[in-house]
Amino acid sequence: MKFFVDTADTAEITALAASGLLDGVTTNPSLIAKSGRKILDVIAEICAIVPGPVSAEVAATEYDGMIREANVLRAIAKNVTVKLPLTPDGLRACRTLADQGTMTNVTLCFSAAQALLAAKAGATFVSPFVGRLDDIGQNGMDLIADILQIFDNYDALKTEVLVASVRHPIHVIEAAKLGAHVATLPPAVLRSLYSHPLTDKGLASFLADWAKTGQSIT
Ligand code: G3P
Repeated sequence: MKFFVDTADTAEITALAASGLLDGVTTNPSLIAKSGRKILDVIAEICAIVPGPVSAEVAATEYDGMIREANVLRAIAKNVTVKLPLTPDGLRACRTLADQGTMTNVTLCFSAAQALLAAKAGATFVSPFVGRLDDIGQNGMDLIADILQIFDNYDALKTEVLVASVRHPIHVIEAAKLGAHVATLPPAVLRSLYSHPLTDKGLASFLADWAKTGQSIT
């Protein structure tokens, strides 16, 4: 399973990239707004930090404007993935960009039917939002299972399922058990995957015993 980080905070991205565990980055207009920076500057900086796919979302809602914005975004770096909303215009733009060899991420997916449309439009990634479905009393992970089952039925569908709106480690583990291709994690969720109290307790005990030996390895 690939791990992307869902943030436009370049300090966070730099720190997490050093782990060697980061396969890509996703942003959205809300995350760009939170960064307080200009989108072109922040996406360029992220693309220089992380060689994997970096999602940058269009703000236009009509096809021509989406393509104009996509042309600006994809010129930033080869690893820019143009993020498009799951609307008729977004999927039309997705098909155009896919035919031109540009990576795309179709976002705001909340149903299996929508995911199937994104795959037929040639999306590189489709982003079902599990947390926001959980928030309204639907099971987000059921949607991931449905989409994976459908995509598995057709060799021609090459779209990767990018699990988004991830809120906690259980989302990550459940998505991995289902075989989702990618999860995009807020930095805090990515860091929390390392944690277990028995790891901390065990390490403290080993270090205490080691100190008693008076030895040094180097
Ligand atoms: O970037 C899309 C998605 O991950 C947003 O998550 O937490 O705002 O629902 P959230």
